This record gives sequence, C-alpha cells and structure tokens, in this order.
Amino acid sequence: CEDTCVTACTGIIDCPIRVYFTIDTSETIALQEPPPGSLVESIREFTKIFAERLADEEYRGHIQITWSIGGLHFSQKQVVFSQLTTRENFIRNLASIRYLGKGTYIDCALKNMTHQMTQHYTETKAVLFAVVITDGYVTGNPCSGIKVMAEKARDQGIQIFSVAASKEIDEFGMREIANSPYELFRDDYIAVEIVDGKPRLSTKTIDRIVKAMGKIGRIGAPGCKGDPGDKVSRAFNIYLYVFILFLFEFYLLWLQGTTGDPGDSGPRGDIGPLGPKGDRGRQGFSYPGSRGPPGDRGAPGRRGPRGSRGDCGAKGESGNKGQPGAPGEPGQSGPPGERGPRGERGPDGDPGPAGDSGLTECDVMSYIRETCGCCDCEKHCGAMDIVFVIDSSESVGLTNFTLEKNFVINTINRLGSMAPEPTSTTGTRVGVVQYSHNGTFESIRLDDPNINSMTAFKTAVKNLRWIAGGTFTPSALKYAYDNLIRDSKRARSKVSVVVVTDGRFDPRDDDNQLTYLCNDPAVVVNAIGIGDMFDTRHDSETLVSIACNKKDRATEMRRYSDLVADEFLEKMETVLCPDPVIKCPDLPCTSELDSAPCVARPVDLVFLLDGSERLGERNFLLVREFVQKVADRLVLARTRTDRERARLALMEFGKESENRVAFSLTHDPVQIVNNLTALRYLDSSSSVAPGIIHAINNILVRESARQTRPNAEISFVFITDGVTNSDNLDEAISAMRRYEVVSTVIATGSDVDQEVLTKLAMGDQHAIFKAEKFSDFLRSGMFDRFIQWVC
Ligand SMILES: *[C@@H]1O[C@H](CO)[C@@H](O)[C@H](O)[C@H]1NC(C)=O
Ligand SMILES: *[C@@H]1O[C@H](CO)[C@@H](O)[C@H](O)[C@H]1NC(C)=O
Ligand SMILES: *[C@@H]1O[C@H](CO)[C@@H](O)[C@H](O)[C@H]1NC(C)=O
Ligand SMILES: *[C@@H]1O[C@H](CO)[C@@H](O)[C@H](O)[C@H]1NC(C)=O
Repeated sequence: CEDTCVTACTGIIDCPIRVYFTIDTSETIALQEPPPGSLVESIREFTKIFAERLADEEYRGHIQITWSIGGLHFSQKQVVFSQLTTRENFIRNLASIRYLGKGTYIDCALKNMTHQMTQHYTETKAVLFAVVITDGYVTGNPCSGIKVMAEKARDQGIQIFSVAASKEIDEFGMREIANSPYELFRDDYIAVEIVDGKPRLSTKTIDRIVKAMGKIGRIGAPGCKGDPGDKVSRAFNIYLYVFILFLFEFYLLWLQGTTGDPGDSGPRGDIGPLGPKGDRGRQGFSYPGSRGPPGDRGAPGRRGPRGSRGDCGAKGESGNKGQPGAPGEPGQSGPPGERGPRGERGPDGDPGPAGDSGLTECDVMSYIRETCGCCDCEKHCGAMDIVFVIDSSESVGLTNFTLEKNFVINTINRLGSMAPEPTSTTGTRVGVVQYSHNGTFESIRLDDPNINSMTAFKTAVKNLRWIAGGTFTPSALKYAYDNLIRDSKRARSKVSVVVVTDGRFDPRDDDNQLTYLCNDPAVVVNAIGIGDMFDTRHDSETLVSIACNKKDRATEMRRYSDLVADEFLEKMETVLCPDPVIKCPDLPCTSELDSAPCVARPVDLVFLLDGSERLGERNFLLVREFVQKVADRLVLARTRTDRERARLALMEFGKESENRVAFSLTHDPVQIVNNLTALRYLDSSSSVAPGIIHAINNILVRESARQTRPNAEISFVFITDGVTNSDNLDEAISAMRRYEVVSTVIATGSDVDQEVLTKLAMGDQHAIFKAEKFSDFLRSGMFDRFIQWVC
C-alpha cells in the first residue's frame, strides 16, 4: 500500500474490498424444502442478487471502492466455486454450485475461507468481509470448532456477517460465526423466507449488509497501516487508539442514521465516582433470581405449538450441545430474589460531556485519516541516495546473509517514503550491491525504473541469492561506485554508502581500492565490520580505511544478529537521515475533534516563543493564530485552582533580558485573546537559556509562590528553529527537570539547529514537531497531532 498511499492522500484514496461468500449446502439445507436442493437454489439466487449490488463506486470524489468477490460452498468438505474475481466472473461461477449434502463442518469452511481470502494477498490492504450463509447446525468440529476458526479469521482482519439460510437455524451457532457487535454482523439477517409456502429472497438483508460494508470499507482499510518500523506512526498510535475508541461509539450511532442528517444523541457522560455511604434501604421489590445449573438432557420432545418469545433470563452455564429439538413452550420465570441492601451514595459527579449530534462528513474524513495508514504522516529524508554493499561470500553463511538482507530492509523501512520514480529530484533512492569473488556482483540499481516503491524494493532485496563464493571487498567498492553511483547521481543529492563485511577478503584482490569511494566528496561511507576478525589491530584499520579514515563512521560488532537490533537500526536511521521532515496529508475536510482534550487532568501549558528576526513578521502572526487556536480547542480550567483541564501562558524571548510575558498561567479566554493581540514581535536576536529561567521565575513561580497547580503537568512548548544563542542551555534544561517540566518543540524551515532542538525536547525526538512552513501547524493534520501530543 505504501505506493498507492502516496498518491492516495494527494488525491483519491483507494479502498479495495474483498467479499467471500461461504455457503452451506449440507443436507440440513439441501433437504429442508421440497424438492431437494430447492433451498440451495434460492440461496444461489440470493447470492447472485447480493453480488450484483456490489458495484465499484467513487465516494464524494475522495474514495474509490473496488470490490472483488469469491466463494466456496461446503458440507463436510469445501468446494471453491469462485476465486476472488470481478462481479461478472463471480456470478458466472456461481452457476456451478450443486449441493453437497452430508454433514456440516462450519469450522473447516471458515478455515478454508480464511485461507482463500488471505493466501495470495499478503501485501495488499483490502478490507475483508465474509458472508457466511448457513443454518448454524454442525455435525462435527474436526477443525477445532467454529469459535477458534472464526477467531482466526478475525485475526486476519476478516469481518464476518452471519446470514441465516432460512428460518430453521441454531442462533447460537450463527452468533459464534459473526463478528461483534451482533447488531451489525448478525442482526437477524436471513437469505430466504418462506411466505405462503413459497420462497422469498430477503433483499432487505442484502441492503443492510451492503450498506454496512460500504461504510466500514470507507471508514478505513484495517490493513492500511504504516510500516511497523515507522517511529512516527508508532508515536501517534496510542493517541490514535484513544481517539478511535472514542469515535467508534459515535460511529455505531451514525451507522443507523443517514449521512448528512443530524445524528442521534451522543453517549452518556461518565459515571461519577463513589460517594459517601447512604442509608440502609427498606426491603424493596424483588427480581427474578438466577437460573439454576443445567439439568440432564431430556429425550427430544414432540414438536410443540409455536410459543411467543420468553423473558430474557440470566445466562446459565453453557451445557453440552444437544440435538436440535423443536421449539418448546416458554419457561416460567424464577421466583423473585431478596433485594440487597442499598449501596453507598456517590458524591455528585461532574456532568459528562454533552452528547454529540452524530458524525458529520468531516468526522468521517478525519476518522479515515486517523485509521487508514494511507493517510499517516510521512517522514521525508530529502533528496538522498543510499547504496548498501553487502557481503555474499561463503564465509558469511546463508543465515547471516539473510540477516544482512533484513538489515537493508529494516533500515529502509525506517527512512520513510521513497522517491516516487528514480529520476525524481526529491526523495530517497536505494541501491544494493552484493558481492563475492572477482567479477561476481549482483546489484539493485538506484535508477532501476522497476523499483518505484518500498514493496518493489523489498521484493528485489528478498530475491537476492547468496552467492557463496570468495570475498573481494575492494573490487566490490569499485564496482559500486563505477556502476551505481558515478553515473546516476542526482544534482544536490547526498550519497551514503553502507558497507557490511566480515573482514575476510581474498588477498588476491587489490586493497588499494578499499578507499575507492573516498575520492568523491559527495559520498559518505559507513563501514560495518562483523565478527572476530576486527579484534586484531590490522583488520580494525582496514575497516576504518573503508570508512575513509573517519573512525566514527566505522562500527564493529560481534554478531550478525546485532545488525537488526533496534538500537543499531535506530542509530543507522539518524546517521542516514539526520534531519527528517514530517509531512502530514491535508484531507479536503477540516474537522474539530469531538473529544475534549486535556480534560480529565490538570495541564499547565507554557508557550516559549523565539522572537528573533529569523521568525519574520508573517510567521509571528501565524504563531499568534496558532496559540489562539490551541486556546480555543483545549477545555480551559474553570477556576485558578481547578484540578482538571488546561491553563495557558505565553512568553516571547529575545536577547538576554528581553523577555516578555504576554500572559502568565491563566484560564481566562478573554485575557488570552486580549494579551495575545497586544503582543508585539521583538524582531531581535534571541537567547533561549535566559528565556527558560525567566519563564520559570515569572510564570511557574512568582514572589516565591508556585503558580502551577498541584499535580498539574507542566508543559513547555518551544516555538523556535533552534538557531538561537544556546549559552548555558544545559543548566536551563536541568532547571526545567527540577520543576518537572515536560517539553515539546515546534520548528519550521529547513535550516534548523537539530542539536539545540534535541536538547530543548529533552532528548525525545518524538517531541519535535517539524514542518516546512509554520502555516502547516494550522492545518488539521498537524494541529490535531500537536493537541493529541500535549494532551
Ligand atoms: C479448501 O478447499 C479446497 C477444495 O475446493 C481444497 O482443495 C483445499 O485443500 C482446502 N484448503 C484448506 C486450507 O482447507
Ligand atoms: C578479476 O577480474 C578481472 C577482469 O575480469 C581481472 O583483470 C583481474 O585480474 C581479476 N583479479 C583477480 C585477483 O583474479
Ligand atoms: C554467522 O555469523 C556468526 C557471527 O555472527 C558466526 O559465528 C557464524 O559462524 C556465522 N554463520 C555461518 C554459517 O557462517
Ligand atoms: C494581560 O495583560 C495585562 C496588561 O499588560 C496584565 O495586567 C495582565 O496581567 C495580563 N494577563 C495575564 C493573564 O497575564
């Protein structure tokens, strides 16, 4: 998906959906209606009408839904009557269904269905739906049972709708098959109703399921996740998770409504905490007691008259499954139990947040943005060429060679998006040379037109075969330069070479060429030596000379497995991409989060704005707009001492003693607006450490009284490019630590001082928000992420 994603976010988001019909043609179904097989025929017709409804469509110009459909039918065995294919082919294949008769193994059918839906599609990111049409009765569980197999299907991301073939069903079995919530995935769906002795296909069932599929599909391909190695998306996962949980409730409500109309009322607010003990209550009304343990199984009864629906009893322990009996009379409810003593009364809880009026179109768009990996923020390393030179000689061994390949893939995974095409002047391109003895080189070229995506690159790397010959490292370096680097270098792009060697190379090779790459100043060489060879001084020197005599670019390690250790990959990531820019897509809709951030705990947020002339008047105005937007979004504290919610402060720092507190910690929106409007741009030089100390002494503490609230999280948000006088910075950071300040940095532009930013962020790279222009922070993608981060 990485490849489609890039275009997806700039234009249309692809939403491929796979549907797999799993149809019970066992005896209980085949012989249910005379003549034998007629119910199966009706189900086939039902499936056909269903499939006809699955038309590719474009949704509001943002989302393109494409369906592929397949199916199997089953009794004790399974027959795949159609692979996943187009609607037309599927309908043609459907005609071949002839009922199987015999017993029913639903678990095996689910197993096979899961296999069919996932076997050839490990890399794609479709939304997966199965529609299982059955009566829910089984004659055996040779494939570990429905529960286990349905769970396995769900693990693969398959969402299963369970549709009753007719009225004669075992609802318990039907529910075991379906995903939860049952209101969505079971919901009394039925394929064929018998009306006046004639079968009637339930098109209502089809309508409801298709509608649900379309909505779930649009709301995000679950497979569409960013690369697991992507630190950035990992950092946001927790925030997203909370957000998604929150939206899911709304989503359920919204499902029932029509898009665009005002939705149902929102969920109820949280229950307040327990209060002081209440009085002991009077003896009260009685309720039915719990049901007793299951009794012995009786002989199957005669078919009784159809009963009306009984009261819902409490759930008993599930007994062994009996033979299906005919419906009996509703049971008597149990005698009322004693009412318990009244509970302790709780204090008045805070009212929960007001109910929401349902999801708007914008909410759906932002939900898609948050759940679909297609729309995650992306890391960009700038124009950069990376060439890996890996040892494929016999001495490395197959296992270690595979580790080398994994190292290449994992490293690239962490570097974010690749250049869209090899001739592009931006983005990362990657090449690989694997080498063994003289003349045996194999390479993936930087400008290979077929390598236009991460997936294509990974496949090419995986396909590299271990050569298992001698080792000619020096020649390999010459080869890499002459064949990959020299002629395909792009203007203004940096070339990084990563050489992996076990240090043993054939003495017949020309060791003058070890430094071949060092002749080109645009090439930076990193050398990684693995194994015991480097214990000797001579070999250590060899490694350093490969790295053009730069000791800090030579790494020695004991084992090949260290190559793929997280710490090392992280190190490579910073070496190869020291200064990434994070780009977040801006979807057409902007939306306000419905959640109220920074609510359940106290947060005192202090903005420290670098007022140096590098900011510029225009950006200064944008910063004011940004701070105002934050103030509008956060729920501000109700009083000065409120133990929840947010308060804000803003200070502009300039030269040594030129620090202006625009407003100190306040919850008053009027003061924020007024003092923000009154704030003037210093337009001077700046010095960050005195700024920090000033903020501590004038905002956190005043006249030796702490101004922060007890238990409040004190959060400093620096708005600076880091190009500032950084004298005494370490002392200032220690002071922040003493006051238990957490820190976030907002930086814009390409000319930043990464070292200062890292110090200000107290070492946490995730806490540095970077964008090219300040206006990016006002757009919904970045802004929401900032809010989620500080809250
Ligand atoms: C699925 O069913 C087909 C018969 O159509 C059979 O050949 C195949 O082995 C089954 N696969 C699994 C995983 O059960
Ligand atoms: C390697 O191959 C080249 C040409 O194929 C040849 O000129 C050279 O002598 C060979 N080197 C060794 C050490 O065999
Ligand atoms: C793989 O490398 C390790 C050192 O990391 C070495 O001990 C081992 O012998 C190598 N395996 C083979 C098959 O050469
Ligand atoms: C806002 O500015 C006024 C005038 O400079 C000042 O008196 C007031 O304390 C400021 N408000 C806050 C919350 O700092």
